[in-house]
Amino acid sequence: MTIQSFRLIAMTAILALALPAVATAGDAAAGKVVFDTNCMTCHGMTGKGDGPLSAALDPKPRDLSTGEFKFDTDGDGTAGSDADLKNVIVQGAMAFGGSALMAPWPALAEADVANLIAYIRSLKQ
Ligand code: HEC
Repeated sequence: MTIQSFRLIAMTAILALALPAVATAGDAAAGKVVFDTNCMTCHGMTGKGDGPLSAALDPKPRDLSTGEFKFDTDGDGTAGSDADLKNVIVQGAMAFGGSALMAPWPALAEADVANLIAYIRSLKQ
């Protein structure tokens, strides 16, 4: 086998391993960066719903540290699945009968949304 074909096989194997991981599991540390930039003002530094803007808001931003969620966006009988969190983040809570204060974030990259979800899961106490 030539070195070139060995490299090709090795790279293909690495890609095959790496791609599904990118598509499914988010990176909580990367999610924290996106969260601190976009979500912290309402949801707070540790996700308890106590950010600087929260006092003025009704309803209050969700306390993300409880691990309990409200919206069952895909109607599968379970609120707060990964699909539900993704739908609420990308489409906003109002699309599912909730508050316009939880605005849609359609411009977030898919990886950012996956990373945010991983971070939100890590906030559960
Ligand atoms: C302007 C304030 C504000 C910002 C900014 C904000 N949220 Fe929210 N969020 C809310 C409020 C208020 C609710 C509760 C909505 C309701 O119950 O109708 C909420 C609810 C949620 C929920 C709970 C959904 C459920 O099913 O219970 C999640 C998850 C969430 N926000 C994630 C985020 C993420 C991620 C970001 C940043 C990309 C973000 N929020 C930015 C105010 C905000």
